[in-house]
Amino acid sequence: MKLIDTAKSCFEKNFCAKSTAYGCAPGRVEVLGNHTDYNEGFILSAAIDRHVVICGRAVPGENCVAYSAAFDKRETFSLRAPQKNTENFWVNYLAGVVDQLQKSGVALGGFEAVVISDVPLGAGVSSSAAIEVATAYFLKKLFPFEMTTERIALTCQAAENKFVGVNCGILDQFSSAMGKQDHLIFLDCRDLSKVEHIPLGSGAALVLANTCAKHDLAEGTYNRLREDCFAAARFFADQTGKQISHLRDVTLKDFEKYAGELPPDLAQRARHVITENLRVLAGIAALRRGDLAEMGVCMSASHASSRDDFGNSCKELDIMTACAAGISGGYGCRLSGGGFGGCTINLVQANKAESFARELKNRYEEKTGLQPELYLCRAVDGAIGGSC
Ligand code: GLA
Repeated sequence: MKLIDTAKSCFEKNFCAKSTAYGCAPGRVEVLGNHTDYNEGFILSAAIDRHVVICGRAVPGENCVAYSAAFDKRETFSLRAPQKNTENFWVNYLAGVVDQLQKSGVALGGFEAVVISDVPLGAGVSSSAAIEVATAYFLKKLFPFEMTTERIALTCQAAENKFVGVNCGILDQFSSAMGKQDHLIFLDCRDLSKVEHIPLGSGAALVLANTCAKHDLAEGTYNRLREDCFAAARFFADQTGKQISHLRDVTLKDFEKYAGELPPDLAQRARHVITENLRVLAGIAALRRGDLAEMGVCMSASHASSRDDFGNSCKELDIMTACAAGISGGYGCRLSGGGFGGCTINLVQANKAESFARELKNRYEEKTGLQPELYLCRAVDGAIGGSC
């Protein structure tokens, strides 16, 4: 891969030495399953052909030195006590993984590394998870240790939750680690061993459309939505007397029976998550039948549910989805990821992907005056590590 070669020469230039190992991890798109991961529900995602590569070598001592090509910055942290860096935030994704690997008993040493990426930043395709997962694979090659792919994803999620301080679910790190070429990843977030790869089919393409809307991605808002979901789950557990630990356990029937007693906003959050889980299952069934039109319907319904019930869309995402409606070749589209900005993901007839993207760009520009970024992306294999 070209990006690995670029990373190797970047290392040589910046550290005047040859690199010995690399980790390479893709970004991801959420195709269906919005805010279902931390509710122990279902997700359908893909690793995409945009990657982070971390490459470098082991050095004696306890210092970890990393250079980011994107920011043209070099940072050092100590292996013994990695501290959160408030100035150069990107290094926290590496330091967090170092911290969590050590906490799970892995013996590491000092290293020098470069971080190279073609994952768009701030677009909602998980460049941060890709750095974390690439770091784990790089370190696994440099200081060999045994760890399953699921455990690597969980360790990277712990880095994000406990070190970086973002309370995300498992979607991003798992998708980056578990991708499969031309397949979507179906995961039951209650049991990470229940993963399946569903063929996307040669007739379908994924088109990512970055709204380029600048919103302060309210991490506080993400956490509040999470808390709302947990509160709603507690309510249904009390009302039904059933074993309900998360919204995943609430049936649509029980929702309809009891939701009237919930404050309206909590009821809306719950309805989004409960129906979204059903949409993931319906979408998979449609894909298995080769029914891309029905899969598209599920995706568009997911967006409407985000917009109307969960409240995690924004003006630009709604405009982008509205612009996509009726363009030849489009099956369906929705916001992808946390929401409040970032990308929409469009399921498109493969032979019309380019004309679709062109038309969507024009329509969005005309409506908003903003310059969107369009990416035709391919589902790819998950993260790897290798020797240089
Ligand atoms: C962000 C989080 C994920 C997931 C999505 C919404 O991307 O990092 O864990 O919750 O939002 O589905």
